[in-house]
Amino acid sequence: MTIQEEIQKLKIARNALILAHNYQPAEIQDVADIVGDSLELAIKAAGATEPVLVICGVRFMAETAKLLSPEKTVLLPAPDAGCPLSDFLTPEMVHEARGKYPGAAVVVYVNSSVEVKAAADITCTSANAAAVVRSLDAETILFGPDANLASFVQKQMPEKRIIPLPPGGHCYVHCAFTEDQIREARSKGWRIVCHPECPPKIQADSDLIASTGGMVQHACECDEWFICTERDMGYRLKKLHPDRQFHVDPEAICKDMKKTTIEDLHRSLRDGIHEVKIPDEIAVPARKAVEAMMAVLEKSA
Ligand code: 13P
Ligand code: SF4
Repeated sequence: MTIQEEIQKLKIARNALILAHNYQPAEIQDVADIVGDSLELAIKAAGATEPVLVICGVRFMAETAKLLSPEKTVLLPAPDAGCPLSDFLTPEMVHEARGKYPGAAVVVYVNSSVEVKAAADITCTSANAAAVVRSLDAETILFGPDANLASFVQKQMPEKRIIPLPPGGHCYVHCAFTEDQIREARSKGWRIVCHPECPPKIQADSDLIASTGGMVQHACECDEWFICTERDMGYRLKKLHPDRQFHVDPEAICKDMKKTTIEDLHRSLRDGIHEVKIPDEIAVPARKAVEAMMAVLEKSA
C-alpha cells in the first residue's frame, strides 16, 4: 500500500478531516480534503463534523482551528512550523500600544500567536481585513503584525487612522518581490496579482491584490498570470485551471510551510501525535477575538 493509501485508510478509521493551506507542498495538497486560504480553513474547521482535524500548514492555523473547535482534537503534523511574521508582535507590545492610544481598537492578523490574539479585540485574515476594520466604531485602529496589510487597509479607509504594530512587521517571502520582476511580467503581457503582504510599491503596480483564496476566485479572469506569493500557490492554481499559465518566483518559498512532509502527516494520523493544546486562560480571550471576526463574516453573508 502506498503512503497516500495508508493516509486515506487512517483518515477513515480516525474519522479525521485533513485541511491544507494553499502553500503546502504538492503531495500534501493532493491528499487533503480541503485546500484553502487561512479564512477558508478556519471556516471549514469550525463547520466540520469530524472529531479530528489535521492541519497541514503553520501553527497559527492549527491554533485558530482549535479556538473555533475546542471540543475537537486538532493535530499539527509539523509542530515546529511557525510563521516569522507572527513573531514580530508580542502581547506586551499590544498592551503598551493600548496605553498610548486609549480608545483605539486592536485588530490582529490571524498570523499571530494565540497570546497576541488574547490581547486583541478582533482578528482578521488577508481575505477580510478591510471588512473587519470597517465594522469597528473606533477611528484609530492598532493593526499588527503585518505593516503592508495595514497599509492596504488604510488605502481603502482614509477616514480611519491605522497604526501598524510594530511599524516594520513583514513576511520575508512577500517582501522579496521586486519592481524588476513586475516590470518583466508586465513586458510579457501577464496579468499581475499580489498578496497584501507584499510591499506597497508592489501592491500599487499589481492589477489585483488578493488573499490566496481570492487568487483562486479570480484565476480564470485571464490566461497568463504572474503570482506574487509563495510558489506552491502556482501548483494549486494550475491544478484548478490546467488551461491557464501561472508564473511564480521559484525562490519564493516559505520554509515553515514546507516543514510538513507526507511522512509527518502519516505519523500524526497514525499515532495521534502533535495535538494542539491551548490553556484556558489564553484560549478564552483569544477565542473571543476570533469569534468576533466570524461574526463580522456572518453579518456580511
Ligand atoms: P492567506 O490567508 O491569504 O492564504 O495568507 C496566509 C499567509 O500566511 C500568507 O503568507
Ligand atoms: Fe508566515 Fe510569510 Fe510563511 Fe505566510 S508566507 S506563513 S506570512 S512566513
